[in-house]
Amino acid sequence: MRINENTLLEGRRVVLVPYEREHVPRYHQWMTCPELQKLTASQPLTLEQEYEMQRRWREDDDNKKRWADPRVAEEDCMVGDVNLFLTDSEDPSLGEIEIMIAEPKDRGRGIGKEVARMMMCYGITRLGIHKFEAKIGKENQVSLALFQKLHFQEVSYSEAFQESTLELRIDEEHEKRLAGDRSLMEEKNYRETKAAIRPETAVHPRI
Ligand SMILES: CC(C)(COP(=O)(O)OP(=O)(O)OC[C@H]1O[C@@H](n2cnc3c(N)ncnc32)[C@H](O)[C@@H]1OP(=O)(O)O)[C@@H](O)C(=O)NCCC(=O)NCCS
Repeated sequence: MRINENTLLEGRRVVLVPYEREHVPRYHQWMTCPELQKLTASQPLTLEQEYEMQRRWREDDDNKKRWADPRVAEEDCMVGDVNLFLTDSEDPSLGEIEIMIAEPKDRGRGIGKEVARMMMCYGITRLGIHKFEAKIGKENQVSLALFQKLHFQEVSYSEAFQESTLELRIDEEHEKRLAGDRSLMEEKNYRETKAAIRPETAVHPRI
């Protein structure tokens, strides 16, 4: 998405960065895993198709981010991805959120919850989102638990896709809480931050 192509969001454990061409091979490799395909209801694509998707995501209206520690090569410390899709052209205040912690060793450590809150905070404060949706397969208990923790509620179930749609409407109280939580994240310029970090200063990934 053009609007945030230079946005870096630095949280406590993770850094969200725009999805760049150099991230594609690692992402492609993750998505060859049948378990992840099932959990995320995704079809495997060829590497060429993934490059094409990356190019399109960059240019269209979606808000896609990978995360990484900027002090080490991003491809080496990616743990997953988060997307905020603007799915309704007539309602720009609706955002569909998707999260994937691709690396099993990084699951269950609070990263999914932190990333969801960061992305929601960004969506509310920068994009004017007031309603979030998440589509979750009925067997994905962890994902259901994550979004329920965040006060999403089931609004419909599709027998055909065997997935629930969960929704969270943002009221004033939510908005104040998220927007007011300054310790949640810091917004920086991705390209400047990257340029300012010399490779030899690389330290351990924060994640
Ligand atoms: C689902 C997913 C995004 C959750 O992220 P995560 O970083 O593993 O989750 P967190 O550690 O932030 O935990 C968030 C909540 O999920 C629940 N949870 C986490 N791990 C769980 C587990 N193994 N069993 C049951 N509930 C679990 C808990 O309610 C937890 O909140 P709590 O720690 O306050 O109790 C992640 O596991 C994942 O990407 N899995 C594979 C792909 C996938 O399923 N994507 C979602 C497609 S809809």
